[in-house]
Amino acid sequence: MRHASPTPAAHAEEDDFLVSVREGLRRHPKSIPPKYFYDAHGSRLFDLICTTPEYYPTRTETGILERHGAEMAEMIGKSCVLIELGSGSAVKTPLLLRHLNDDAVYVPIDICEPHLLHSTQRLQTMFPALQMQPLCADYHRLPTRVLKQHAKRRRVVFFPGSTIGNCTPADAVELLRHAAEVTGPSGALLIGVDCKKSPEILNAAYNDAAGHTAAFNLNLLTRMQRELGAQLDADGFAHHAFYNEGQGRIEMHLVSRSRQAVRLGKETFAFDAGETIHTENSYKYTAQEFRQLARAAGWQPETVWSDGDGWFNVHYLSAHPAMKSHLSVLPARRGRYSPVPS
Ligand code: AVJ
Repeated sequence: MRHASPTPAAHAEEDDFLVSVREGLRRHPKSIPPKYFYDAHGSRLFDLICTTPEYYPTRTETGILERHGAEMAEMIGKSCVLIELGSGSAVKTPLLLRHLNDDAVYVPIDICEPHLLHSTQRLQTMFPALQMQPLCADYHRLPTRVLKQHAKRRRVVFFPGSTIGNCTPADAVELLRHAAEVTGPSGALLIGVDCKKSPEILNAAYNDAAGHTAAFNLNLLTRMQRELGAQLDADGFAHHAFYNEGQGRIEMHLVSRSRQAVRLGKETFAFDAGETIHTENSYKYTAQEFRQLARAAGWQPETVWSDGDGWFNVHYLSAHPAMKSHLSVLPARRGRYSPVPS
């Protein structure tokens, strides 16, 4: 296979986890960022969630890509550099790759290296002519070399799965601006966004009967035990997920079943009965709300594709002409990009 060895992430990952957990548990209310769900075990559990009848986003978005992938490829450009953020198992990616030309380049980016390698391997077998350059990194801080390669090709960020929903609206704007820096002034963004809908459907999607979502949430605690030597009773916590209608988001928490303590290194974190660790937000947007958000980040909303029920949207955004002036004067930075000035 060509170019399929991943660029190793900064080896701060494990450290990162320790620092994030420590800081998160010191906070009130307690919280841990959702990106730590995705160790090898958690990534497998997420794939299981996607196969449950309750978790509609994956199959709904897959249907949209199956139906409209050809048109999407036409719009983003068939010889583009396709940069996928949080590619994971990249199950949906072939629905787009199959419509691209042989000279297109695919750059999958994920923090879970075994997952990244395995899925790139699989895609390379399916599309032997495509050049693939997996990158093991946190997509919130992409290395500048992603920007410098393939300078003449249109760079397109592909961000499926409604992962943008993990960000607060303000952070989503920041991330979309970051994506604009990655693509540059002639780039595009193809992004999947889960829609607002009845709370019953939403609540069921995050409380599947098979218990995969619960296991996924609770894996955070066993990961703390495995990797950080945390002393805690994982059975002393329960999965809790609900749609917060006022905020327009699903919230996931780990609820302490009793008054108890979690030890991490020399530090002890006390939990009251019923106290939670907030582990994830999953924001839901109407098409209009998301287009507004995209505009705030300097993107020009173009086409929106949806399913028959209007449960999920795939947005095609193009780089706004006004972005040009900013981006052309952005100096090269080492390792980290800051937001485009507005
Ligand atoms: C991967 C962030 C899109 O929010 O629906 C699924 C993660 N959490 N079930 C989502 C998730 C619980 C998922 N995203």
